[in-house]
Amino acid sequence: MKLLVLNGPNLNFLGIREPAIYGSGTYEDLCTLIRAHARKLGVEVEIFQSNHEGDLVDAIQNAFYQKVDGIVFNPAAYTHTSVAILDAVKAVGIPTIEVHISNVAAREEFRQKSFVRAACRKTIAGKGFQGYLEAMDELVHPRGKA
Ligand code: DQA
Repeated sequence: MKLLVLNGPNLNFLGIREPAIYGSGTYEDLCTLIRAHARKLGVEVEIFQSNHEGDLVDAIQNAFYQKVDGIVFNPAAYTHTSVAILDAVKAVGIPTIEVHISNVAAREEFRQKSFVRAACRKTIAGKGFQGYLEAMDELVHPRGKA
């Protein structure tokens, strides 16, 4: 089984950006946790981050050609703006879980809208880095559609 963990804009700045909201762990720390969890689950994982919307669309399309079985996706700010990203996830038909480090439901009004959610199996928010690991668990051992 092969998973893709995809992160959108500014998530490479974890540990630097707004630590009161996103914590003090760095992007490298997050990648280390994800790789260790993939080993534990016995799955292959590819990790990709981009600050550019089109690069994220390309990564989703490439996942189709690479026969990726599941995507853990934090589109960051593009969550709230991007129809292109929604369309890409719909196009590939790969089971995808939306992840947010912060509890977006308790934040600004403009963060309440998620375009990508309509194409995702589930949303996990407000659980910090742990949310990525839960999403991996869910893709490997699905517990039914949320
Ligand atoms: C985020 C929440 C988004 O609203 C924000 O734009 C981000 C990160 C999160 O992980 O909590 O960049 O997706």
